[in-house]
Amino acid sequence: MRNFISHRVQSVPPSGIRRFFDIAATMKNVISLGIGEPDFVTPEPILKAGMASLQHGETHYTSNSGILELRQAVTRNLKRLYGVDYDPETEILITVGVSEALYLALTAILDPGDEVIVPQPCFVAYTAEVVFAGGVPVTIATKVEDNFQVTAEAIERTITPRTKALLIGYPNNPTGAVMSRENLIQIGRLAEKHDLVVISDEIYDRLVYDGAHVCFATLPGMLSRTITLGGFSKGYAMTGWRLGYAAAPSELLAAMRKIHQYTIMSAPTTAQVAGVEALASGEKFVQEMVAEYDRRRRLLVGGLNTLGLDCFEPKGAFYAFPSVAKSGMDDEGFAESLLQEEQVAVVPGSAFGESGKGFVRLCYATAYEKIEEALNRMEKFMRRHG
Ligand SMILES: Cc1ncc(COP(=O)(O)O)c(C=O)c1O
Repeated sequence: MRNFISHRVQSVPPSGIRRFFDIAATMKNVISLGIGEPDFVTPEPILKAGMASLQHGETHYTSNSGILELRQAVTRNLKRLYGVDYDPETEILITVGVSEALYLALTAILDPGDEVIVPQPCFVAYTAEVVFAGGVPVTIATKVEDNFQVTAEAIERTITPRTKALLIGYPNNPTGAVMSRENLIQIGRLAEKHDLVVISDEIYDRLVYDGAHVCFATLPGMLSRTITLGGFSKGYAMTGWRLGYAAAPSELLAAMRKIHQYTIMSAPTTAQVAGVEALASGEKFVQEMVAEYDRRRRLLVGGLNTLGLDCFEPKGAFYAFPSVAKSGMDDEGFAESLLQEEQVAVVPGSAFGESGKGFVRLCYATAYEKIEEALNRMEKFMRRHG
């Protein structure tokens, strides 16, 4: 029988993250700093809104764009936080997480062979999804010396006549880097000069510890060429509800909605109702969770530096991304040995792109006491390998 799998799909390797989870799942007493999701359960009022919606019999499809009340709430929230204006009727689409929104954005804009510039290290789905959408990812390595920020000069060097889009995600997974407003403005100028569309994944916008998040669409001239992706998974601890949104100029959004109509119909109804409640009463919980993440961030980053695992100071999201150079191992070897010897699961940095080599990602959306215990185990590990 011939191989039925498309070359496109064959060309993408399986996610480097999953392998470690699969090994960890077979072991006892593992502390996982691997998976990138909040340990908190969704706050009570949001849960209740979802449950009540089911009990009221709201078990049907919604409008393809998502319930208007939620689109209006998203619009108000973006206005309140960043002062940006979107039309809930034509410029907001409710999606199955940022994951779906990302797929829609890329599929809506890419013709075969179109290039998308992707700074790395980055979320594992970015380059894979560009390929699935028929495009060509052109990666740029960001460096710890530059605080993992991508510069306009580095981007300009990679632009070709086939470049169509720039895909950025800040606060960043896996580094925790945020971009300075100045750098973003320069990138915006470049997008204008070369007529590029910018896909800005701002799923971690609420998880910023120093300073304020810059919403890319608010920068000069950027509203008309930016697709903003936002979500509920991280800020509101709602990963399992599968809810996100895209905000974009109406022509781009209509193209995304067309794909969404044919492939998804509508995001989960229960989740949409819960999302309305999240935006109505969730702010207090967001603040509490951010304060707790910040406490854990300091514990983890301080602890790693003490062990000689030099760690760049993450300013957003919930990841630490230390270098493992002191162990004398590469990142794969480090993650594998740490899991086998001390039952602490972390993710090798190379899972997030070439430039992640030599680093590992640790997620601190895990209980404070567990992070303390993980650091104790890592201390023993580093005594043997440091
Ligand atoms: C940068 C980034 N974008 C998007 C996602 C996917 O989020 P969602 O749960 O909204 O699909 C993740 C999840 O880890 C992420 O880290």
